[in-house]
Amino acid sequence: VFHNEAWSTLLRTVYSVINRSPHHLLSEVILVDDASERDFLKAALENYVKNLEVPVKIIRMEQRSGLIRARLRGAAASKGQVITFLDAHCECTLGWLEPLLARIKEDRKTVVCPIIDVISDDTFEYMAGSDMTYGGFNWKLNFRWYPVPQREMDRRKGDRTLPVRTPTMAGGLFSIDRNYFEEIGTYDAGMDIWGGENLEMSFRIWQCGGSLEIVTCSHVGHVFRKATPYTFPGGTGHVINKNNRRLAEVWMDEFKDFFYIISPGVVKVDYGDVSVRKALRENLKCKPFSWYLENIYPDSQIPRRYYSLGEIRNVETNQCLDNMGRKENEKVGIFNCHGMGGNQVFSYTADKEIRTDDLCLDVSRLNGPVIMLKCHHMRGNQLWEYDAEKLTLRHVNSNQCLDEPSEEDKMVPTMKDCSESRSQQWLLRNMTLGA
Ligand SMILES: *[C@@H]1O[C@H](CO)[C@@H](O)[C@H](O)[C@H]1NC(C)=O
Repeated sequence: VFHNEAWSTLLRTVYSVINRSPHHLLSEVILVDDASERDFLKAALENYVKNLEVPVKIIRMEQRSGLIRARLRGAAASKGQVITFLDAHCECTLGWLEPLLARIKEDRKTVVCPIIDVISDDTFEYMAGSDMTYGGFNWKLNFRWYPVPQREMDRRKGDRTLPVRTPTMAGGLFSIDRNYFEEIGTYDAGMDIWGGENLEMSFRIWQCGGSLEIVTCSHVGHVFRKATPYTFPGGTGHVINKNNRRLAEVWMDEFKDFFYIISPGVVKVDYGDVSVRKALRENLKCKPFSWYLENIYPDSQIPRRYYSLGEIRNVETNQCLDNMGRKENEKVGIFNCHGMGGNQVFSYTADKEIRTDDLCLDVSRLNGPVIMLKCHHMRGNQLWEYDAEKLTLRHVNSNQCLDEPSEEDKMVPTMKDCSESRSQQWLLRNMTLGA
């Protein structure tokens, strides 16, 4: 799919597909024009592609429709046994296609992605990507790359030529058996433009009996832009919130609260009718999201079991713990409660960690501050005991309790010897939506 793509990047994509794929494996190239305005993408492009060695079909959307609907149109027109989706600013490398197709031949319910190499948007030079990252997401439902966890390295017995099972895909580049694409419900046509469709598809594939893999022997380069160059009819934020709501409502069960509590504004966004997608989930007898978290993405920042999700409020001052938008290795803060989610959302998990996204509250010094560190799940300095009667948060290793800030720094709560004082009482609550 292209929208006002530059001639050079578009043709670089097409040529690399044609020149670097065995022709008996390539039935056609389909370009879907999502209502581009640039002149050279009209007749000039049509005339140009007529002379290429492989049939190149151009489909034009009548109006700006976005990636999702344009891809659906292209897929419907395609004839090959496998559909490979690419962005319009890619470069396929030698040997990119065969390992993808081989994996689908082995198991038609496997959806496969190449390693995505980086093409600089400055110099257009090609830089190899890593086989040591895979796809995940955070509480805001942002797709993110994370290091491939040890459990997945162990499963592959250290053989880095074997495909990596990935919880989510970036979305731009993948191959899928054409009939399987139909069977599992293509894309959610109720989503607008772009955003969230990659997570929707990832959850759906895993929950409905398929699998999603990065085939490490296949490399495709992609031009990454610092900001999206496209206009979004309806506004970027609104479109992405709507799409994310649709995927949360259909696929995430009660875990959608993690998303809603951190972004309470999202709850006001109208997400349309999802009954068709829910019926699809029903018909395919898809597994619950808890199964996905347990089996496919145990490393998720969304804990499978948790005691509370929301603000942590001090009884005496009525202030709330706040990560202040700070990063790893910095102190957790405290601030007036605002009830707007975001930086004041913490989860207290069944493993007795207090988490803000993937950071855990950690104490390493008596009478010291509380530091936010990457959760290590080894208990140690990240183990907290909440006493629901005394309302205290006791740090197990130091046997001290979380207390109000000391005189020196009014914005940073500190650890003190446990007492019965109200300054050591905290309310942990499941935040209720729309309340
Ligand atoms: C919050 O919700 C979780 C999951 O539904 C439940 O297990 C827990 O007891 C609740 N905690 C509080 C403090 O209400």
